[in-house]
Amino acid sequence: MNDDFKVTPWEVTGEIDYDQLITRFGTKKIDREMLDRLSGYGELHPMLRRSVVYSQRDLGWLLDLYDKGQKFFLYTGRGPSGGTHLGHLMPWIFTKYLQDLFHVNLYFQMTDDEKYLFNENLSLDDTRRAAYDNALDFIALGFDPEKTKIVIDTEQIKLLYPLALKVAKRVTFSTAKAVFGFDNSNNIGSIFYTSMQAAPCFIEDALYGKNTPCLIPCGIDQDAHFRVARDVAPLLGYHKPALIHNKMFPGLTGNDKMSSSQPLTTIFTTDKPREVKKKIGNAFTGGQASVDEQRKLGGRPEVCSVFKYQYFLFEKDDRALDDLSERCRKGEILCGECKQLLTQRINEFLEEHQRKREEAKERLHEFMLPPTC
Ligand code: TRP
Repeated sequence: MNDDFKVTPWEVTGEIDYDQLITRFGTKKIDREMLDRLSGYGELHPMLRRSVVYSQRDLGWLLDLYDKGQKFFLYTGRGPSGGTHLGHLMPWIFTKYLQDLFHVNLYFQMTDDEKYLFNENLSLDDTRRAAYDNALDFIALGFDPEKTKIVIDTEQIKLLYPLALKVAKRVTFSTAKAVFGFDNSNNIGSIFYTSMQAAPCFIEDALYGKNTPCLIPCGIDQDAHFRVARDVAPLLGYHKPALIHNKMFPGLTGNDKMSSSQPLTTIFTTDKPREVKKKIGNAFTGGQASVDEQRKLGGRPEVCSVFKYQYFLFEKDDRALDDLSERCRKGEILCGECKQLLTQRINEFLEEHQRKREEAKERLHEFMLPPTC
């Protein structure tokens, strides 16, 4: 068994065994039965069909309530440390699907405090600026402002702080150390931080005085925060938040997670077509060393970052995806052609996204909760 990998909210390293994470964290796999159930609400998203979104906590319980007429709300977020890349967009796109499927409210937390506390090199000004910048990418995905609110931690602190305090009072230092691996060298803000990420799980109590169930679509790397939140919730008289987890969006180097700290192998939402072409051109593939070998032996889509991009995000048609993978294995398509296809897809997507991103500049206010509410 491959044990040599790490997945925490602040560090993802090694080759991730996603099934093993389910065991480590104690979550549930999204099985056939759950997929069948979900398909009763509308067409399954490709991320569900392909197990990109693959794990959950208490999703059945949440759907039982929903079926009886009890609405839940969605909660997800972003740690604004710099520009938005494709890996950030992936769970937000899935969140949009969930909102469209269930017609429920959505709260999007911008943790400018988190990124300030956990990054030596970022000032609070940097992370707050990044929060407003990243909000444009979020809005550009087409969320309904009537149902969707962005919560920036340092701005909406008056709303969040009482909730965070209630959580903080019930989490001991030894729990924080055990769950997050803190030691005596961590600053005290980072030890408190998990209570800020837990706070929006209960936000409709603060806003409307209602104990509304909450569903959190997020990367599996964020699970630790919500294990803590789920333990505390019943002590506060709240429902435990339910979760639906996605796998990490791969990097172009063949690693398991796209990371902004490697700008040359990361595709940002503001990249120009030229930059995308260059980055994809340099991407790690599953191809052979020479054209002859590739024709003879075929490529390996399962390790190829170019194929993974189609699989995770860009090729929505399952048939077309299978066909691409087959042609690769048989050596019928070479990496150059595949890269060109992907570059074109990404650039078409980004052209539209960048246009909507510009429009979003005029619409920020529609999505913000008033700072003093
Ligand atoms: N900690 C997350 C990050 O660094 C941001 C975040 C806050 C989040 N609340 C969330 C992510 C809820 C998913 C769900 O990106």
